[in-house]
Amino acid sequence: MNSTEFDLDSLVRPNIKVLTPYRCARDDYDQGILLDANENAIGSVPADTRALNRYPDPHQDELRTQYAAFRNVKMEQVFCGVGSDEAIDLLIRIFCVPGRDEIMITPPTYGMYKVSASINDVFVRAVPLEPDFSLNVDAVVDAISPQTRIIFLCSPNNPTGNLLNKDAIRQILQHFRGIVVVDEAYVDFSGDEGFAGQLDEFPNLVILQTLSKSFGLAGIRLGIALASEQIIGYMLRVKAPYNVNKLTSEAAIQAMRQIPVMQAFVKALNNEKKWLISQLETIPAVKKIHPSDSNFLLIVIDNAYEVYKNMADTGIVVRFRGDQIHCDSALRITVGTHKENELLIAKLKEITS
Ligand SMILES: Cc1ncc(COP(=O)(O)O)c(C=O)c1O
Repeated sequence: MNSTEFDLDSLVRPNIKVLTPYRCARDDYDQGILLDANENAIGSVPADTRALNRYPDPHQDELRTQYAAFRNVKMEQVFCGVGSDEAIDLLIRIFCVPGRDEIMITPPTYGMYKVSASINDVFVRAVPLEPDFSLNVDAVVDAISPQTRIIFLCSPNNPTGNLLNKDAIRQILQHFRGIVVVDEAYVDFSGDEGFAGQLDEFPNLVILQTLSKSFGLAGIRLGIALASEQIIGYMLRVKAPYNVNKLTSEAAIQAMRQIPVMQAFVKALNNEKKWLISQLETIPAVKKIHPSDSNFLLIVIDNAYEVYKNMADTGIVVRFRGDQIHCDSALRITVGTHKENELLIAKLKEITS
């Protein structure tokens, strides 16, 4: 899909197209004697040196600039939100008319696409992945209806762990005149550079990323969307004015200065993953370990639900995924520290012997 064939404005909900965004005090001035935003001018409780009594930058200019440099895109192509979950919700709200439009998902996949769509009264069309968790491009293309506004693809996929084939994703990007979201929450673990380099080629591409995984910052709730300047422009207009708080911004900006530390985490977790696989292979009840490009493993194990319950009762919590399509008797196990992984293997051996 090139930019002459793609008409972004025709996809945007009419009420969003004409929306006059809220203008907040900090849009106009952020220096001087600030008596414009009804803040507490004296200070904050508890006292803090970071001017927490003042609202944060509504545009997140510094963070967006740093993140753009890290992913080699333009600052105008970066949106920052309260986790990628905020970006998922905003995209649905921008492009899908409630009660009329639909999104497409490819289960088994991350659950929030469906939840966000349902909250917004948007229909969800499901086109399952193949049993080997690859994309069925023909089935996706055949299922596109005039109401399909967004196709959500997750790569590496949660809960299956695998990267989706890039050519398959490209075919969908080329064919579909709506928005294609590629959720790259786990991309740093995969060794693949993802789709960030292809923003200029595909005007309908939105990439979701997060600091919750490889950066180990799930607690600060910082998610990112990368897309054309026009799409990001709509996201900025619809978001709550001060959606990313100062403490989060500050931690995320620090993280951008320590990319090698993130890379060392990725390396360590990938090594732990290899160790976990080697150990799981020795457990007879483990029938299959799916290949993983992420920081978790999907395994097929005898009596998965009982094993999950038993493990949780002894304090080791993994995720039962046996209720998802193509995931019969499956557990999703996050790669932990070496000590945690040792305890997990010991407990699995004990429970299943
Ligand atoms: C595929 C995928 N996307 C998005 C998220 C949510 O990320 P965030 O913490 O940025 O909201 C998750 C979290 O588990 C995920 O697995």
